[in-house]
Amino acid sequence: MIVAETKDKETEMRLKDKVAIITGAGTGIGEATAHKFAREGARVVLAGLPSDPVKDVAEAIVANGGEAEAYLGDLAEESAARECVEAAVRRFGRIDVLVNNAGIFIANAETDAYRVEDFERTVRNNIRTAFLMTKFALPHLQKTRGNILFTGSEAGINGSAGFTPYGASKGFLHAFAKGVAMEQAKYGVRANCVCPGPIDTAWTRGPGGPLSLEVQKMIDGMVPLGRRGSPEEIANVFAFLASDEASYVTGALLLADGGVTPAKGSPGEMVPDTLREIPKGVLPLRHSHEGLRGKHVHLAK
Ligand SMILES: NC(=O)c1ccc[n+]([C@@H]2O[C@H](COP(=O)([O-])OP(=O)(O)OC[C@H]3O[C@@H](n4cnc5c(N)ncnc54)[C@H](O)[C@@H]3O)[C@@H](O)[C@H]2O)c1
Repeated sequence: MIVAETKDKETEMRLKDKVAIITGAGTGIGEATAHKFAREGARVVLAGLPSDPVKDVAEAIVANGGEAEAYLGDLAEESAARECVEAAVRRFGRIDVLVNNAGIFIANAETDAYRVEDFERTVRNNIRTAFLMTKFALPHLQKTRGNILFTGSEAGINGSAGFTPYGASKGFLHAFAKGVAMEQAKYGVRANCVCPGPIDTAWTRGPGGPLSLEVQKMIDGMVPLGRRGSPEEIANVFAFLASDEASYVTGALLLADGGVTPAKGSPGEMVPDTLREIPKGVLPLRHSHEGLRGKHVHLAK
């Protein structure tokens, strides 16, 4: 007997009815994650700085038939992080997933020339945001047996010359994610960390960023797959980890880096041009390269 696989579209949605907070959701990887989660059936709360195009992303999701709420505020402020969590609960009644994705990469200087103010900005926006959001969301995630995702980085595993505090801030998140996973398992809460390699956002492409145009040209050659990843390729990994399909995954550091973390030399230079194209994807992204807009980037002379 042949049994037809007749799943309707709704049952295929991996995040149906889940409520997710995504931080840094106005641009780059966060924008892609917002669209991806909405397509998978999640109701989303999109958080970002007041200058980020978060409302625009929320409106695009609503126009596509999804449910989205924008929250504007500096999540490194205790009151804003608390308010963001409260706004999610007020609007949707629950929280199932927290994606700690907000972050900055705003300086390029060797450690002795790295400005203390840039170190402090890095700690504030990369670490403090994730700690505060996790702290305030946990009581709600314990009620739903939800899960937390972090955006780590290959730089958090190997360190990163020229921006050592940035790499170290990601190393903090890796250890924090694992600690939270161990601690919260008894409540049914999972925590995992995705570690992207170079992703095609304002951070790795275009003028005005922390990497010189010369270094930007070298990136693809360093990656075994011969190219940057797209924001959507990271969003796809988040969607799996946030879903019940990943119910046995916790405390994981998952590399989504084109192979760059274990690579040595320039293996990407051997990749033929035909394989270097970044997948077009399906998400309607409009702000992939706007994450540094309005942010001061310091480059040591
Ligand atoms: N692009 C890459 O190559 C790459 C590689 C590894 C990891 N990552 C990580 O991915 C995440 C997203 O980076 P992206 O490349 O999409 O850059 P992006 O600049 O487009 O996105 C980061 C977003 O976070 C927001 N944000 C920063 N501080 C905030 C705060 N205090 N409150 C609220 N929002 C805040 C920013 O305004 C921005 O919109 C970051 O955590 C980054 O460390 C990026």
